[in-house]
This record gives sequence, structure tokens and C-alpha cells, in this order.
Amino acid sequence: PEKYPRFPVIRKTDRRWPNAEIRTAPLWCSVDLRDGNQALIEPMNVSQKQAMWHLLVNMGFKEIEVGFPAASQPDFDFVRWLIEENRIPDDVTIQVLVQARNDLIERTYEALDGARRAVVHVYNSTSPVQRKKVFNLDKAGIVDIARQGAAKVQQVARDYPATDWTFQYSPESFSSTEVEFAVEVCNAVIEVWQPTPEKKIILNLPATVESAMPNVFADQIEWFCDHVNQRDSVLVSIHTHNDRGCAVAAAEMAILAGADRIEGTLLGNGERTGNMDIVTMAMNLYSQGIDPQLDISMADDIISTVEACTNIKTHPRHPWLGELVYTAFSGSHQDAIRKCLAAQTENEPWDIAYLPINPEDIGRSYQSVIRVNSQSGKGGASYLLEQAMGITLPRWVQIELAQPVQALAERSASELQTDDIVRLFRHTFMTS
Ligand code: KIV
Ligand code: ZN
Repeated sequence: PEKYPRFPVIRKTDRRWPNAEIRTAPLWCSVDLRDGNQALIEPMNVSQKQAMWHLLVNMGFKEIEVGFPAASQPDFDFVRWLIEENRIPDDVTIQVLVQARNDLIERTYEALDGARRAVVHVYNSTSPVQRKKVFNLDKAGIVDIARQGAAKVQQVARDYPATDWTFQYSPESFSSTEVEFAVEVCNAVIEVWQPTPEKKIILNLPATVESAMPNVFADQIEWFCDHVNQRDSVLVSIHTHNDRGCAVAAAEMAILAGADRIEGTLLGNGERTGNMDIVTMAMNLYSQGIDPQLDISMADDIISTVEACTNIKTHPRHPWLGELVYTAFSGSHQDAIRKCLAAQTENEPWDIAYLPINPEDIGRSYQSVIRVNSQSGKGGASYLLEQAMGITLPRWVQIELAQPVQALAERSASELQTDDIVRLFRHTFMTS
């Protein structure tokens, strides 16, 4: 997006593993309004859904799963609001989830009546535990549910010819399913939908519960991509959850393994430990000089809107966007940052120790980068003072100032503000 001031050029010191790099952003699909919403203690109300929608559109999402309209009247009403109030920009496609059940599929299309374009996302569970204990079905029974669901989705779509439909199928609990069986189920769906390279379908492979290391998930994705029929007519999407804390890593490795598309949420809201955090993965790409195709330059707006919609606070050390991420308290870090900032020129690639990106790129400022407490040495206090007073301190002044600053920080056992440091400076050097 134009708003980005620059793409950082990273220092690539080791190019031995060229295949271990993602080179372009995947297709993103936000599921904040569906998976994120269904996990909240209090699901979003109308104005919260609208605020989340506006944020997602403004960030540049082109595919947004907006709910499960056949299962929830508020979701149904929200889809109707989007369509009837003409709130969907031309380049944005809405997606809705539905179980592979005839009545629910019919109701889903009622919700989508009049949409210019939409993705109908149908799913059923495929893992051994779901087959045995939840559905009491053998493998053939599960394939049958998928095939019949796919057929119903296709059949009802014909009743709404004015809409440009895309079909999506998820073998829920894919990562806990025997991969050969997942391919068998998906091939059955492909047989029904008959996709072409011009009119692709989406096969979405969830780690519904993350239960293995990211490399195992990536191996499953690679095997799937190698064995599924008509790979050139299929977009392989992945949908990871964060039960082991590795949802972003699993998503990144899945892209390296051949996937095309990622479903996730902002800052990782979602069932249990959450969905994969699209903001983190997008910033990982950004920090490697890759255009993430999402605008994260207004980080504080993202945080405040997500918090207002989910009633969940963002951890101050959340990757990339947390409040404390561009702050250094320790003296040696502050000293290094200060020296690097002084040496940084406008047109050079960003190259500052301890700061992997320029905080300005996400709307943060230098002022908040350096903060002073009892862990800080002379560098931090001098930097804040220099910024506040527009002066350059000789080294002997920095050293002398450090003593009262350290003493006050230890006495108060809290962070010092710039005003405290200015006062100490005046007291030490300007009183007779
Ligand atoms: O986590 C999951 O498996 C899901 C599916 C319904 C896609 O949310
Ligand atoms: Zn999910």
C-alpha cells in the first residue's frame, strides 16, 4: 500500500538456504468476524462488527469471512447489512461458513442473496476421533457427507445466477487426519465441483487443534499438494490455530511447502489460544523487505479497534505491535540504539541494532523508543534530555548526569519521565 514509507532492505548475511524464504505475500483471508467472533465471551454486537469490517477493509483485506449466517441470526443480519447497504467494495469478496447440511446450505444462500461475489465455505470433520466418537461413521460415511455437501452447495448456487460464486471446502481437523484420507475426501469434492484453472476452488486445510511441530504440518501440506487431483485448479489455503504457540510458524512453513492462501485473525484472536496472527506474519514479511499487501502503518488504530471489538487486551510484548516492543530500558541497548540512530541517514536501509524495523513504519515514534529506569545507563537519560532540550551533551556531562538519574530511578523503583531528567539536569548543572 502507498502509505508504507519504505520496505526495509534487510541485511542478508546468510544465503545458504534460498528456498527457506517467502518471496511474495500469500492471499490473506481474515476470519475475525467468524472464528474470532465465535470464540469471544461476548460476541461482537452490530457496531463492533461494523468497526471490525471497516478496519479489515482499510487494511486492504480482499477476502473476509463474515460469519456463519445459517447458525446465527446476528451473523445473518450482518451479511444482509453488508449487501443491502452496499458496504462491500468492488475488490473485496465476502465469505461465509456453513456445515455440510442441506438445510443450513439453503439458509446460507438466502443470507447471500444479491451479493455481487461470494465464497461459500462448506466443511465437515474428518479426523479419526471425530469419525468414531462424534459422528459414528466410517471413512466412506465421511466422504459421503463431503460429497453431498459439495453437491448441495453447487446445486443451490444455480438458483442465484446473478452472483459470482466461489466454492471452498475444509476437511475440519485436517492436521489430525491421515493425510491420504484428507486427499481422498478432497478429491471427492473436486470430482463434484469440477474446477478449472480459470475457475478455481479453494481447499482449506485447518490445523483445527495444533498438535504437532510446524515442520510436520508443512510436510502434510506438501504431501497434500503433491497428491491432490487437479492442483492447477485448486487454491490451497491453510488455517492454523495456536495451541502449541506455533500457528504463525506453521503458516509460514506451509507457504514454503506449497500453500497459496492463509486464513487468520488480527493479533491472533480465535478459538482457545487463537487463530494464527495475520499481523505478525505480515510484519515478518515486511521486515524482510516483502510487501505484505496489508497496511499495518496505523498499528495503534489496529490495536484499539481490535480491543474495542473483542474486549481482549493486546499484550505489551505482542510481536511487532506491542506497546513495549520499540522500547529499550537496558543501558547497553539504549547506548547502541542511540549510536545507530545518530549514524542512520535518510536514504540508507534501516540498520539499527535492537530495532528490526523503523517504528515510524507502523506509526510509532522515536520518543517512545528509549525509556529510563534503574536498568538504564547514561545513554538513555542523555538521549531523552538531548531530544527535549535540543542540545548535545559532552561525554563528561553524560557520565555525571547518570549518577543522580540512577539514584532517583532506584529510589523510586519506577520509570523516569523526561521532565524528571530535565529537573535533575538543571539541579546538577545549573544551580550554583
Ligand atoms: O479451525 C477450523 O477447523 C475451522 C474450520 C471450520 C475451517 O475454523
Ligand atoms: Zn478455526
